[in-house]
Amino acid sequence: MPMTVRSRDPRWLLLFRLGVAVLALVPLLMLLGRILTRDLGPDPGQVITESFGLAAFQLLLATLCMTPLKRWTGWSGWIRVRRMLGLFAFFYACLHVLSFLQFILGWTDLWATFTKRPYIILGAFAFLSLVPLALTSTKGMVKRLGKRWKPLHRLIYVAVVFAWLHFVWQARSDIGEMVGYGVMLVCLLALRGVWFGWSTLIPLRKG
Ligand code: HEM
Repeated sequence: MPMTVRSRDPRWLLLFRLGVAVLALVPLLMLLGRILTRDLGPDPGQVITESFGLAAFQLLLATLCMTPLKRWTGWSGWIRVRRMLGLFAFFYACLHVLSFLQFILGWTDLWATFTKRPYIILGAFAFLSLVPLALTSTKGMVKRLGKRWKPLHRLIYVAVVFAWLHFVWQARSDIGEMVGYGVMLVCLLALRGVWFGWSTLIPLRKG
């Protein structure tokens, strides 16, 4: 069967979606494997928190890759998995924040906890920007919000930039990794700016 015909086949799309879901679960499964084999080193809580944070950030970047992939390949299947990737990013962000509270700073005096260090404030901003996106990701909410849905969902750019700053700020070593992610982020935002206009990078703005 030629690729173009196969890629429009609903069974092929279902398989693709399943494959993407399995890939998105890999960080969780790998971490569970490490927990079961007691392979988390002297500070398991830190490793768990960092793994979930990294997975959330990588999935946010993956979400932003879907539009360029659609444009380059002409295949709309990429867009069909975009929402799922975004929700997985939010899922890992929730696990990241929960493990931070559980293993690193505790559940008492949350305000003092979240305002303790600048990188935590940046992380909290990133997380807060993701919440309305997750809450309005259903088909019903897309319909209800109508034209307001798109400007709201541009909050993903705020979330990913804050998440990157949060990532860089707390880094103690391996600056190369952060620079690599930063270059990728700038390229993804620049592509969007060039293709659709720079104003489309501004969240909550009409048009
Ligand atoms: C209230 C929100 C958040 C808090 C309190 C928080 C807290 C933390 C803490 C304590 C660390 C570990 C720092 C260390 O190594 O000492 C961390 C790392 C990290 N966080 Fe967050 N975070 C938040 C939100 C987010 C969000 C929304 C994302 C991504 C979408 C994110 C991505 C990351 C990444 C990528 C790392 C580095 C992981 C690594 O070193 O491999 N964080 N965060």
